[in-house]
Amino acid sequence: MSKKAPIGVFDSGYGGLTVLSELRKSLPENDFIYLGDNARAPYGTRSFDVVYEYTLQAVKTLFDLGCHLVILACNTASAKALRTIQINDLQKIDPSKRVLGVIRPCAEMIDTFSTTKHVGVLGTNGTVNSESYILEIKKIHPHIMVTQEACPMWVPLVEDNTFNTSGGEFFIRQNLESILSKDPEIDTLVLGCTHYPILMKQIVKFVPDSVKIIAQGEIVADKLVDYLERHPDMADKCSKKRITMYYTTENAGSFEEKASLFLDEKIVAKQIVLK
Ligand code: DGL
Repeated sequence: MSKKAPIGVFDSGYGGLTVLSELRKSLPENDFIYLGDNARAPYGTRSFDVVYEYTLQAVKTLFDLGCHLVILACNTASAKALRTIQINDLQKIDPSKRVLGVIRPCAEMIDTFSTTKHVGVLGTNGTVNSESYILEIKKIHPHIMVTQEACPMWVPLVEDNTFNTSGGEFFIRQNLESILSKDPEIDTLVLGCTHYPILMKQIVKFVPDSVKIIAQGEIVADKLVDYLERHPDMADKCSKKRITMYYTTENAGSFEEKASLFLDEKIVAKQIVLK
């Protein structure tokens, strides 16, 4: 029997914390290891090969730290690296380990939110260009019309903590007006990047009340609870001491400061090198 271990949660930076906080609410007894590759964020403008290489390094690191299950709490990594890791790499590394993403759970649920069946997806360049949302949503709900908008400035605004400025709001407003003008029938906007819920206060200012804004955290958490119920062998391998550990590839002090702000609690982080 393998040693019980925390669930790994990976993102390029701070965005995955929006998923982690929902995972902790839904699985309050479980342990988690959060890993942010802040030193190399954002991933959104990087090539397929680079995102795959960095994500694989992160997954291997979380496996080395003992995790049996890793959640890619990053749409860009889910879009560009998840499939290859699931199909090719897990076989070689350890077929008993699992890596799950954030796009599929959201695509499955989207139909329940939209009445007009016109949905908008906001994401990084990488996620939008991969067309992963269009492919995943159309596979399950072929009748839904999907319009995308890349918001390349939004992740840097979070990573640099400059979103609460008039300059930051300018970019947020510009992308929201752009997607809503591409398809005025949109009644549901998916925040298809885990960084974006941190911008929620700014986003709601520029979206009419009739449009629902969907953050992924709760959806991913519900789907993980369901997954663990369907896979009791994996649930048994997850340790439960209510502990969360934080690792970052950047300076631990600055990660602690910003992550504490986003999570609204004091956290302690360790710096780690991915290779
Ligand atoms: N949180 C990542 C995502 O969901 C951000 C990507 C980035 O680093 O650009 O896509």
